[in-house]
Amino acid sequence: MDTERIDLAVIGGTGLYRLAGLEAEAPHQPPTKYGALSGPVRIGTLAGRRVAFLARHGEGHSVPPHLINYRANLAALHALGARRVLALNTVGGIGERYGPRVLACPDQIIDYTWGRVSTFCEEAGSEVLHVDFGDPYTPALRAEILAAAAAAGVAMVDGGCYGATQGPRLETRAEIARLRRDGCDLVGMTGMPEAALARELGLDYACVAIVANWAAGCGDAEEITFQQVLDNVAAASTALPGLLEALLA
Ligand code: HPA
Repeated sequence: MDTERIDLAVIGGTGLYRLAGLEAEAPHQPPTKYGALSGPVRIGTLAGRRVAFLARHGEGHSVPPHLINYRANLAALHALGARRVLALNTVGGIGERYGPRVLACPDQIIDYTWGRVSTFCEEAGSEVLHVDFGDPYTPALRAEILAAAAAAGVAMVDGGCYGATQGPRLETRAEIARLRRDGCDLVGMTGMPEAALARELGLDYACVAIVANWAAGCGDAEEITFQQVLDNVAAASTALPGLLEALLA
């Protein structure tokens, strides 16, 4: 396996199945002791740096949030040489600053998911880790992302609390009202356990959330359609190449 250092690993969410501009070599799909990854890891050059990309839901969006093998994905990226992970997560907006097509770099998480394998500390004889998770996203990487956004002229909301829900269905209005009372600004289905597993592996990890829709009951829409989600992700994602170039500079 090629374990040359990777400058940045990017995990793409809903609507982000390839990384624009990445001149990728042959795809890697290493076996892991946790099972199969969501799909191939594409490693190549972007802005002169070695970058890896993995589509979290698979390149054909075939893996639902609760069935993503988060452990295999992160273990493979780690084994391939990644130490910094930029997670791109498609989300719904709850707080008024987080409308459709906004990019945000959240700083907190509340985990409402259940039944997902959420730790590497499960094997017999493995060390039980109680990792610090007070700041679930690596502050230094967040600062770099925000500085890169400023340098690239990309508008990005600094901070916010990501509420991680189970999916794959969207939430009820009452559930979103509860998340709002809890202090969530964003809602998505894939933020956890990915962030916690990254911390257990000692990876630097931060999220750029791409707001695809107002969460249930937050906007005027009667219904949230997948097409609306994809259209808004596509529109907001036009800022990503500039952001990545600045981040990798
Ligand atoms: N809720 C949960 N996850 C999402 C949403 C949402 O409204 N939009 C995109 N991902």
